[in-house]
Amino acid sequence: MTAPSSDSLANLERVVEDANTAFGATVSTAELEQAKARFLGKSGVLSELLKGLGRLPADQRPAAGSRINVVKQQVEQALERRRAELSQAALSARLAEEAIDITLPGRQRGGGGIHPVVRTWQRIEEIFASIGFDVADGPEIETDWFNFTALNQPENHPARSMHDTFYVEDGLLLRTHTSPMQVRYARQHTPPIRVIAPGRTYRVDSDATHSPMFHQVEGLWIGEDVSFADLKGVYTDFLRSFFETDRLRVRFRPSFFPFTEPSAEIDMAFDSGPLKGRWLEISGAGQVHPAVIRNFGLDPERWIGFAFGSGLERLTMLRYGIDDLRLFFEGDLRFLRQFSA
Ligand code: PHE
Repeated sequence: MTAPSSDSLANLERVVEDANTAFGATVSTAELEQAKARFLGKSGVLSELLKGLGRLPADQRPAAGSRINVVKQQVEQALERRRAELSQAALSARLAEEAIDITLPGRQRGGGGIHPVVRTWQRIEEIFASIGFDVADGPEIETDWFNFTALNQPENHPARSMHDTFYVEDGLLLRTHTSPMQVRYARQHTPPIRVIAPGRTYRVDSDATHSPMFHQVEGLWIGEDVSFADLKGVYTDFLRSFFETDRLRVRFRPSFFPFTEPSAEIDMAFDSGPLKGRWLEISGAGQVHPAVIRNFGLDPERWIGFAFGSGLERLTMLRYGIDDLRLFFEGDLRFLRQFSA
């Protein structure tokens, strides 16, 4: 080991500069520790200089020693500064990486929508409630008596075969129409009666235009002087509210139902839009049969009125321009989301 030459002592200041440059070039604390060893380590530049002190003439040692110590302190300070810089940079990088934009919207729970048929159901309730009709609800599992017999369709009546019925145990059945609600409601209320009863109905039927479960709304108006003209007026007003246009016409076509006499099929036609001019079947209706009025517990000599039963799917399809009934029952979100607004 050689004594520090006067040359290397003269270059002492360069050591601080070199250390600064070396430390500044490091980009991680690991690199910095390696650079530190080169200057402050056991065999680093400064240790070598200090070791060489002993070989200097005694009178020069104190001055050289303190100069080396000053430089050593400066190198240590440079090291500390770089350490602080690197840890600050590491912290900033981590903060940037883990940053959360608290202004971003949260993850939403997908908002459900109202099924288009239920929308129709709700609209119908609103419209009829606004003209003084009560809204009633009744069982989907019905007795044979309410579904057929009370509606003037005794057992073996040929009209019973019009409905392919789902029978359940104990002689009960899934109601094939909402008409049993006429009887249920009228037996519990005193006339005048004005009521609608929307709900689910069932028939053994399944193809492009029939679903085993579908929806109807029953309407019933019983009073002492209620005529077919009232039916036409009420139903036309309902359709105009429902479709939000006065530009539609309504006609009655003779038909048959065991529980109404006379019976009619209600047709409607739009005066504008894509369906313009086409007569569309929209509802069954009629004047309530005297036998049914009797089953209401009322005197048919005094009480008279009308009933109608309309398909909710049909009304919904016409309102939204949907041409395939199955879309209502497949649960395809792409279809349903269009109605979620
Ligand atoms: N219940 C009949 C059907 O399902 C519709 C209807 C109701 C007809 C009320 C007349 C009166 O087809």
